[in-house]
Amino acid sequence: MHNFKSVERCVYGRGAFNDLEGILQKRRVQPDDFIVFFLDDCHKGKPLESRVPVKPGDLVLVENVDVEPKTEQIDAYVARIKAHTGKLPVAVVGIGGGSIMDIAKATSLMLTNPGKSEQYQGLDLIKIPGVYHVGVPTISGTGAEVSRTAVLTGPVKKLGLKCDYTYFDQIVLDPELVVGVPRNQWFYTGMDCYIHCVESLQGTHFNTFSEAYGSKALELCRDVYLDDTLSQEERDDKLMVASYMGGLSLTYSEVGVCHGLSYGLSYVFGTRHGIANCIVFNQLEEYYPAGVREFWQMVEKHGIHIPAHLSRDWTEEQIAQMADVAIRLEHFWVHHFGPQWRQVWDVEKIKDLYRRM
Ligand SMILES: [Fe+2]
Repeated sequence: MHNFKSVERCVYGRGAFNDLEGILQKRRVQPDDFIVFFLDDCHKGKPLESRVPVKPGDLVLVENVDVEPKTEQIDAYVARIKAHTGKLPVAVVGIGGGSIMDIAKATSLMLTNPGKSEQYQGLDLIKIPGVYHVGVPTISGTGAEVSRTAVLTGPVKKLGLKCDYTYFDQIVLDPELVVGVPRNQWFYTGMDCYIHCVESLQGTHFNTFSEAYGSKALELCRDVYLDDTLSQEERDDKLMVASYMGGLSLTYSEVGVCHGLSYGLSYVFGTRHGIANCIVFNQLEEYYPAGVREFWQMVEKHGIHIPAHLSRDWTEEQIAQMADVAIRLEHFWVHHFGPQWRQVWDVEKIKDLYRRM
């Protein structure tokens, strides 16, 4: 049985970001102790940037995450951080969306584990705990703040560094930080959470423990995207908790068809995870009928554009490459179709779905 672990500590609420300084202060023991902050460059020049509790000697890396994080990028961060003062930081903090949180988690692990990060793409390959690491989401939905994985695109696959050491030691959930997220992005990233729940609740890993988190997260997503009476503040408060709950639901279950195909799409075209999921989910009525119909309702209500007819510009070689990445995600297929998944699911079926996108 999976021995459930989660993030060590969580502070939630409007203004929770103000607690970050005190939380980090406890890690600063020696005069030369320093902290690494990864900040999503969408916050550059914005009020949040000046609120990051940076002290002299700290390293602030303001990063663009238009393309999902790569293993070589993590290796470069590790080299840069190790060269900063010659000693390891006492904390790594990720402030931003899912990609920034994955970067913070992966960097923390690779600071203490030898070799290249691509060697550790998979389950329980990391053997040494990472540097203390903190996640501060500024957009809700990915569940990266609470997940057991740091998803990276490597030379041959898109796969996470997945182990119990990946979990953040501390997360700060402050819905005030979500202000200013562009509408489309708010929708796409929130749908990641919605899809996590739909996928985790349907499949062979389904169980009551996971369902308790998943069904509550689903209810919160419905409030956020279908209840007209809520203010934007109420939506932000709820979606931040939904993201957390959806992530926990996954931890004790698994994602399914949408994430499998979405990984292939992101691997080949670098498509951001949230929108990639929406592009794929839009074509999965056969696999998740109720979920996809409700998704369409949400799309229509918010007037969101979901890209379609993309395959007109794809070559057969690219489609084959995406399918090759997807088919390797055996744990997703086992969850959705069962241990005998190969009898009902193959590369040709995956390619057919890509051709519909
Ligand atoms: Fe996801």
